[in-house]
Amino acid sequence: QLKIGLLGYGTVGRTVAALLDERDCGIGIRHILRRPGRADGPLMTDSFETVLNDPEVTCIVEALPGRDPALAYIRAALTAGKHVVTSNKAAVAADLKGLADLARARGVSLLFEASCGGGMHWIEMIKKTARFDEVTEVSGILNGTCNYMLDRMERSGLSFEEALSRAQALGYAEADPTADVSGADVRNKAIISASLAYRTPVAADIPTAGIVGVTKEIIAAARARGRSIRLMMLSQRRGERYAAGIAPVLLSSDEIAANVRDNLNYGRITGDVVGALSIIGQGAGGRPTADAVIQDLISLGRGEAGLPVLDRSLTYDPGLLRGTGHFPDEVLPGRPLAELIEIARQKQSFLAFEPQATEL
Ligand code: HSE
Repeated sequence: QLKIGLLGYGTVGRTVAALLDERDCGIGIRHILRRPGRADGPLMTDSFETVLNDPEVTCIVEALPGRDPALAYIRAALTAGKHVVTSNKAAVAADLKGLADLARARGVSLLFEASCGGGMHWIEMIKKTARFDEVTEVSGILNGTCNYMLDRMERSGLSFEEALSRAQALGYAEADPTADVSGADVRNKAIISASLAYRTPVAADIPTAGIVGVTKEIIAAARARGRSIRLMMLSQRRGERYAAGIAPVLLSSDEIAANVRDNLNYGRITGDVVGALSIIGQGAGGRPTADAVIQDLISLGRGEAGLPVLDRSLTYDPGLLRGTGHFPDEVLPGRPLAELIEIARQKQSFLAFEPQATEL
């Protein structure tokens, strides 16, 4: 039996514990780390050292909110020779290469399926594609809050504020929803996704535009032209160069991404041998995200788990991601996404990006 120490007892941690209790899959919880004052149930402790120093615990499952102190706990666990399974996109994106190198040096696994796309098997799909194919493109809808908001603004005519408060009430949004609507949450997921796909550490400051400033009038005008808007991660790779970015994207109605409704997530990867692969599913929420954590634990228990492969040093080339920038007051064709995002920042204006045809 795989014995784990669970860090965090929020939506994800609590559901992992409940599912492991419900279904016997050879995984047992030894400790549950909670905040001081909350460690009042069976197995619960408020001491990370208690979890870390238990020799019976061979794997730490990290499901804490936010980057810190989670990143330090992950490093400490790997250093202590324990496998790590984490749902923490901010911690993984902050130091994917460093964590992978540390895990390799200590001979343990580092798994983070739950960090991007919740229950979608997205990370596994990327890793499997990239281990044989040369990946040329990765894109997707990786924030359920923004997708729900854009879809509701389009189909139900909600205002930005109404759509955001509904997304918060439904539990999709981060504790501070600025991370959702600014694109920062997608940026973490894009860094992780593109790093694995291209097997290179992706730059931390990839150009990012969120959905702040979008109005139901902008969405209705796009719809009148047969278009939908979705917040997406986009990336391209050509040979030794890559580009990645996050922006609201203008899509025609026949594209899969335009038809991704509610809070669903969508991922697409193109390999040179396999072609384009797509996946759609619940990118957040207790059960889908806990499923991703438990899938990682099952892989670990079966000895099938590995390490992120980042064995290349590709060059960031923003010119690879080009298209038309639609602003409320002008349309700028044939520009790199990075340049359009800089213009949007200076204008303090909403940008809808229309990628060149080959990019989606
Ligand atoms: N706030 C995130 C979302 C949660 O809306 O997708 C899952 O990472």
